[in-house]
Parts: sequence; C-alpha cells; structure tokens
Amino acid sequence: MADLQREEGSTLLQAERQGEAYFAESTNPESVKGRFYIESYGCQMNFSDSEIVASILHEANYQSTRKEEEADLILLNTCSIREKAEETIRRRLRQFQTLKAQKPHLQVGILGCMAERLKTRLLEEERLVDLVAGPDAYRDLPRLLGLVDEGEKGINVFLSREETYADISPLRLDANGVTAFISIMRGCDNMCSFCVVPFTRGRERSRDPYTILAEAADLYQRGFREVTLLGQNVDSYAWVHPENTETVHFAGLLERVALIAPDLRVRFSTSHPKDITDEVLHTMAAHPNICRYIHLPVQSGNSEVLERMNRTYDSDWYKERVEAIRRILPECAISSDIITGFCGETEEAHHDTLEMMQFARYSMSYMFAYSERPGTLAARKYKDDVPEETKKRRLNEVIRLQNQLSYAHNQADIGKVFEVLVEGDSKRDSNSFKGRNTQNKMIVFPKLDGFRPGDYVSVRVESATSATLKGVII
Ligand code: 5AD
Ligand code: SF4
Repeated sequence: MADLQREEGSTLLQAERQGEAYFAESTNPESVKGRFYIESYGCQMNFSDSEIVASILHEANYQSTRKEEEADLILLNTCSIREKAEETIRRRLRQFQTLKAQKPHLQVGILGCMAERLKTRLLEEERLVDLVAGPDAYRDLPRLLGLVDEGEKGINVFLSREETYADISPLRLDANGVTAFISIMRGCDNMCSFCVVPFTRGRERSRDPYTILAEAADLYQRGFREVTLLGQNVDSYAWVHPENTETVHFAGLLERVALIAPDLRVRFSTSHPKDITDEVLHTMAAHPNICRYIHLPVQSGNSEVLERMNRTYDSDWYKERVEAIRRILPECAISSDIITGFCGETEEAHHDTLEMMQFARYSMSYMFAYSERPGTLAARKYKDDVPEETKKRRLNEVIRLQNQLSYAHNQADIGKVFEVLVEGDSKRDSNSFKGRNTQNKMIVFPKLDGFRPGDYVSVRVESATSATLKGVII
C-alpha cells in the first residue's frame, strides 16, 4: 500500500524509507582500519544522522563502501515508528547472520531508534548484532568498535540532553551536489500518545545557530542550491547563547539562512500545528527563496481523536492555521501525515479526517494505519480497539482521496510556468531532468544543452499525474 506513495514525486521526508545504502570516498586509504557499509531506514533525520556517523568513522580511519559484501562492518540505522519497520530490520539482520557464517570477522551494528528502544536485546538475547549505539552515542562509535575487536560488548544507549553533533561536518554520502539536509535540533518533547520518538530520541535540544549557518554557507560555496532544515518539530527551535541572553527562535534562524544567498533555496520539516506561528509565515513571505511548502501533519481531523493523541490542538485550531497559511502565503502547498484507526476512532471520526483533507487540499500526504508501540502513552492508556481490516479499509479510503486531491492539485498546474531547481537525471529517462518547484512538486522535463544540475530553469507544465508534473524548459 505504502508503495503508492513512493513514486518519483514523493520526497519521503518523514515516511519510512527502506534501507538505502550510502557511499563516500575515503581520504586516507593507507591507514584504513576497515570498511563500513551503512544502510538507513525511517525518517530523514536518520539519513542525516548516517552522514554524521560516516563523518565520525572516516575521522577514525574507517572507509565507506557501497557493497555490503566488501564490508568488515555493516551498520543499520534503524526506525521503530511502526511494527513493520522493525520487522524489516530483523529480516535484514538475519540475512547478515548468513553472511557472517561465511565471513566470521564481519561485525554487524545497529544504530538509531530500534537500538535505543531494544537496548541490549538484539545483542544479548537474540545475538543478532555485535554493536548497539543509540542516536546520541555516535561519537562513541570508535571506542565501541575497539571493544568489539577485543571480544567485548559494544553498547551505548545513553540519551543526552546536550548532544547536537553541532561541530561535526556531515559526510555528504551519495549527495546529488544540489540539495542537502541540515539537522537543526534533536529529540522531541511533544509526547504524542502514539509515538515512540520521545523514548528513542530523547529530550528536545536545539543546535547552535552559528554552526547551522556555517554549514549552510559551506554547502552553498560547494555548489549546493537547496538546504532543508530538519527537526522533529522545527517550530519549537529555541537556542539561548550560553554566555549572554541572545536567543534565536525558528523564524530568526530561517531568516538568517535565507539571507545567505538569494539563490539558495531553504526548506524545513517538520512543523507542528500547535507551534507554527504567523511570524514564521511572514518570514517566509518576506523571502522568496524560502520555499512555498509546509509539511503540517494533522494526524486526524477529529478533535476527540486528537485529544487522545495528545496533539494539543483541535480541528478548529488546525483549520485556522491552514487559513493563516492561505492568507499570508497564497501560493503555499501543504502536506500532511495521517493515521487511520487510532484507539477509539469511530466511523464518524474517520469521516472528519476525510473532511479535513478536503478542507486543507493537501498536495501530498504520508498515510499510515495505527501501529501500537510498546511503552507509548497510547499503549498504556487506550485499547488498540479498531480491527485491522477497518484500519486498512480506512487507510485505503484516505489514500484514494489523497490521490484525487494530488491529481486535482497537479492538474491545476498545467499551463503554469515554474522556476525549477535541476536536481539530476529523471529516474526513468536519462534524456530528462528532474527537479522541484517551490511547492516541492517534482517536475520531469527533457534536457536542453547548456543546463546542468544546480541550475534554475523555467519550466512550463504540460501534463500531470497524481505524483509528477511533466513539462518543457522555456
Ligand atoms: N502508528 C502509525 N503511524 C505512526 N506515526 C507515528 N507513530 C505511529 C504509529 N504508532 C506516523 C505519524 C508521524 C509519522 C512520522 O509517522 O503520522 O507524523
Ligand atoms: Fe525517525 Fe521516528 Fe523512525 Fe526514529 S522512529 S527513525 S525518529 S521516524
């Protein structure tokens, strides 16, 4: 089902991504301690973290490889958001056990949310891995690897209140050279009742804005033309200078990044409906290089369900925020995350979600059936009482409606001319480029001599499906 969302047009900022491998050249091949292969799952934060991990390992003289069979060390950066995500990882770990039988020196490590959630379990009880490192323990990886080499247990799942990896320059693995992600904060304090993230990623903390600006400026210097500022809840970004009273909030950070260069596009994700302020919307309006696109997960359109989800807003509040976006940024596209079949969701509540989707006219959504996660507020407080078939049927209805909305949204673009940042070759046709417009819609168009990735081109849209626009350079 989720495959419906995985066409060329989707950006998968938040939805589960499945095991993508990374590669980067090593700088000092002589002193190489071993080769690592890293595969990432889950949200964009995880992909961004893998670039931090790669940087730390490179500093410690490990070389990256794209081929798992060449590796001395295999790392999986994992996601716990739904049960299915964890099942996929377990299957992958069992495949590595087979590989290990042929290659006894091979080490397998687990990073990220599943490492944090299961702690010693995969190492001690299930014996599927040699190393476990939670999201705040990546600086400790070289020491942990040393322990594993000596036959000891390499595990660190301490969560930190301070770690932001601010000083680590991520190794841009397999980068397209045009778009990059910058992590601006870590953790989450929201406690949505369905969500495992506060338990796996710990308390919210904001990264020093000066290191964020330096990273963005450096990317721009190196030819990148788009940065996406990442956090579980970017609107609650708040940094206080340790030595004076200087305070930077999200709107201020956004503005400073936008001022680096007028041709550096700025995006951000994810926004929380309770926190997104008019100040942020006005900052966007004042800077055309801040993209006209907001990912604003609603989760449910029914106020009682939202209350049980502990989202701290109701459907009227959400609608008012959508209206504010329309008022201040009339051209802005809005996308969402939606969960079907949460505890106690009635048929009427489900219809409220469909109605909300119509109201917000989402350009795109990531849609999921509720999956109870052990230890969360919902697991402790509410019964997972919507039958699996009902969850799935409602999910199908939500997906069907979203496809119609995306199709209508995209059809309305036919004939319009957009400024598109060229990202590279289209996946399906090497004679065409792909790139996105400010509303984050993917547009595919035939190549023209003289244009290359990183250029801005004007493209007129000629046709559209629910996932992709097709056009020509004018
Ligand atoms: N079950 C289903 N979907 C979930 N999400 C988070 N937790 C769960 C869960 N337990 C979805 C939410 C969130 C997105 C990243 O994943 O929609 O916004
Ligand atoms: Fe990202 Fe959440 Fe999955 Fe962790 S559990 S990888 S924070 S989506």
